[in-house]
Amino acid sequence: MIELDRVGANAEEISAYLDADLQTEIAHGIEVSRLAGKLARELKMDTAFCHDVEVAGMLHDIGKLRASTYLYGRDDDTLNVEKMRYVRLHAGLGYEVVRDQGYPDRVCEMILHHHENYDGTGYPDNLVGENIPLGARILRVCDVFAALTSDRPYRKAFDSNTAVELLIEEVRHFDMKIFLPFQSIVHEEIMERAINRDEEDKLVH
Ligand SMILES: [Fe+2]
Repeated sequence: MIELDRVGANAEEISAYLDADLQTEIAHGIEVSRLAGKLARELKMDTAFCHDVEVAGMLHDIGKLRASTYLYGRDDDTLNVEKMRYVRLHAGLGYEVVRDQGYPDRVCEMILHHHENYDGTGYPDNLVGENIPLGARILRVCDVFAALTSDRPYRKAFDSNTAVELLIEEVRHFDMKIFLPFQSIVHEEIMERAINRDEEDKLVH
């Protein structure tokens, strides 16, 4: 699967690169899966759907493993457009990976469309509104939130309130039927964390 000739790098270099990348990706997958499952239950979806969206949440960026072998070692300054093109390929590559592994069609479709925006500005197919599979609409909001609330090489994590404000600025990308319940889940979690902190403080003092 790793195309060494194409990227002109040795196996050790690629493996170190992928290890660092993998840790971030796996942590992100776990968080998206957790949020997506919670949101699907909030939306009163059945158990099978909740399970599928959790699986898709875990694996949604699996295509980056293939895309990153194309990107390795390239010069960022000169190849931004090309790089973007490969990054955008990860949704379709991920779809192929899970389809080839025999995952249910519904899981594969969620992964294929997890970068579609509700207003039709996403990829790979510029789907609009309800044409985007429900699971993919759920993943979209959870994915962006999870990315904003985790540390990245170029910035620290945003707190949950700031992340929600940033999501609101981009709200045309999201389905409001999904976004509003998502907001209440985030607020609940903020409250829960505050209560836990209070209890910890009481124990300390
Ligand atoms: Fe993605």
